[in-house]
Amino acid sequence: MSSDNLLSTIAEYKLSSRLDEAIDLIKRQLHYSPYYYEFHYEIAGIYLLQNEFQEAQLHLERCLSINNKNTSSAILLDFLKNKDAYEVSNKSISVLFDYYADSFDEELTTTLKYKTPQLIADEISKRFPERQFKYMYDAGCGTGLCAESCKNLAESIFGVDLSMNMLKQAKNKSLYTKLSLGDITHELGRFDFKVDLITAADVFVYIQELKYFFQVAYEQLVQNGIMVFSIVSEGQEENSGRYSHNHKYIQSLADSYSFKLSSTSEQDIRKNLDKWIRGKIYILSKA
Ligand SMILES: C[S@@+](CC[C@H](N)C(=O)[O-])C[C@H]1O[C@@H](n2cnc3c(N)ncnc32)[C@H](O)[C@@H]1O
Repeated sequence: MSSDNLLSTIAEYKLSSRLDEAIDLIKRQLHYSPYYYEFHYEIAGIYLLQNEFQEAQLHLERCLSINNKNTSSAILLDFLKNKDAYEVSNKSISVLFDYYADSFDEELTTTLKYKTPQLIADEISKRFPERQFKYMYDAGCGTGLCAESCKNLAESIFGVDLSMNMLKQAKNKSLYTKLSLGDITHELGRFDFKVDLITAADVFVYIQELKYFFQVAYEQLVQNGIMVFSIVSEGQEENSGRYSHNHKYIQSLADSYSFKLSSTSEQDIRKNLDKWIRGKIYILSKA
């Protein structure tokens, strides 16, 4: 089997919950081709999904020793070495959203009047009225609500999520060129072409330290590419277990990775009981 075929078989295994089989297949391949760094990167991603951080670290180190230009491995290694033990784990996020997937669209759009994907599309159209994007990376795509709202803005949409059941719902919408199971930082890092639009709707609330994603995003965006995301405004969701990131933090990350802040707007993003929750939509450009 060619390496491209193998990588797509592995992607299929991941999408059908056959993570152990994917690991076995990669291990067998690595036995014959131990210097194939893409396989080390791939298996590290699966170990990240399973919260097996030591194994993930070993393979990222191997990946980097074979190809020291692989910046994504270096960024993920930095993440693993500095990881806060109390950070919400990828595994618990996937369990949570696997459980909610079937009722997610109905619950969010009807009961909670969730508007973030549409607000993201509106902000992009307002700020860049004539622009047509080629490759959109929908980070934490969930059931595909962002693809629905942004479908006229981009030629191809790639979706990544930690939850298999959310991805199944997204697949039913038939709007994505490709869907992958994985962590948003790891999966973006493996793209062998650059994207011009990154969206992340209501995803950063599950990630405590955003610098790793910002770093990979900057690397993987074309010049003038944009990243559009939401955060929940401060003080809106206390004790919810979700992370609220303040403007100072976002601005400092943007500055660190040379992003230009193109626009920010504060809006009602969804309801909680009878009260509207306020959130912010950011557009950052790779200047
Ligand atoms: C509240 S949902 C939002 C889904 C979609 N973006 C939308 O607006 O409808 C959050 C999604 O982010 C995903 N997620 C959270 N952290 C992630 C990570 N580190 N990598 C990939 N997906 C992640 C969850 O599995 C979930 O599907």
